[in-house]
Amino acid sequence: MFAVYAAEPNHEDPLASLRIGDRPDPEVPDGHVAVTVTAASLNLHDLWTLRGVGITPEQFPMILGCDGAGVLPDGSEVVVYPIITSPGWIGEETLDPRRTLLTEKLQGTFADVVVVPARNVLPKPASLTFPEAACIGTAWLTAYRMLFVKSGLRPGQTMLVQGASGGVSTALIQLGRATGMRVWVTGRSEGKRALARSLGAHETFEPGARLPERVDAVFETVGKATWSHSAKSLKPGGIIVCSGATTGDADRAELQRLFFLQLRMVGSTMGTRDELRDLLSYLDLTGLRPHIGAELPMSDAKQAFTAMLDGDTAGKIVFTR
Ligand SMILES: NC(=O)c1ccc[n+]([C@@H]2O[C@H](COP(=O)([O-])OP(=O)(O)OC[C@H]3O[C@@H](n4cnc5c(N)ncnc54)[C@H](OP(=O)(O)O)[C@@H]3O)[C@@H](O)[C@H]2O)c1
Repeated sequence: MFAVYAAEPNHEDPLASLRIGDRPDPEVPDGHVAVTVTAASLNLHDLWTLRGVGITPEQFPMILGCDGAGVLPDGSEVVVYPIITSPGWIGEETLDPRRTLLTEKLQGTFADVVVVPARNVLPKPASLTFPEAACIGTAWLTAYRMLFVKSGLRPGQTMLVQGASGGVSTALIQLGRATGMRVWVTGRSEGKRALARSLGAHETFEPGARLPERVDAVFETVGKATWSHSAKSLKPGGIIVCSGATTGDADRAELQRLFFLQLRMVGSTMGTRDELRDLLSYLDLTGLRPHIGAELPMSDAKQAFTAMLDGDTAGKIVFTR
């Protein structure tokens, strides 16, 4: 079948191991389902996989793509839930120490067909298009958990999102605005800041800028480049919710601020299957939709990976077939 895959880990030049071609048709073990993929979306995680981060060398070649939406053999329309729990695990999926994400052990969604455990598909609301539904399983689920499960923010409070144009950032901006938060955003260019404002940001700033006042919560996926600013931007008792470190680990943990201002720093990873169900329902009920910055055929995947590597994103990048 047609697939977009990583041939081998390549830390220095991730695009050099990107392949667009044929992979064997998958088998469907008991308890699994085959989803004919209609749309899939790109996440920075796919670049980590090309680099060999979070995946062992013997797992290559690996079909990329954590997110997707498609159709089961009986015609039902589904969204893929990307967290694969270990056998026998009961409880919150994100707390399973042996969980994997699609593309870490199981082959991913950038293909004609993806095979996942039966519990890893959820019904797609009819009101969402396939490209919209393909954005939800990773970036939007991560943002939903950060905001609604981890931050403790109430409508009317002020949130700062570090990064304007990324998948998680745009989801946070849209969810925050739709829920009545005051949304402030940093972005690396005026174009990215304008995008954030068009998605609902009340005010935007250059990275590291002094804010008009301190905020109740900061949403972090950037890491080293913004962490200090995040800690300095918080009110006493405020919270940083962190789900990523794109630019690496922070040089300074800001421990003096942490204890003196009684800050809270909380990690967040993906979301549970129940949270994905609730997020799909939220989108269905509110009419809120993920901002898709680019939609292109899977065969043009290299162009999309290059744009993400260059930081040239404007919301989610979706592949259609
Ligand atoms: N823990 C989890 O479950 C989970 C889930 C999803 C994602 N993540 C992680 O979250 C991160 C973002 O993922 P994504 O898919 O949203 O990536 P993405 O679409 O490529 O977005 C990257 C974002 O990072 C910002 N950024 C990058 N370098 C920066 C720098 N030097 N200074 C300031 N901002 C910078 C960009 O800001 P501009 O808009 O200003 O360019 C952009 O908003 C990744 O590290 C990913 O691995 C983790």
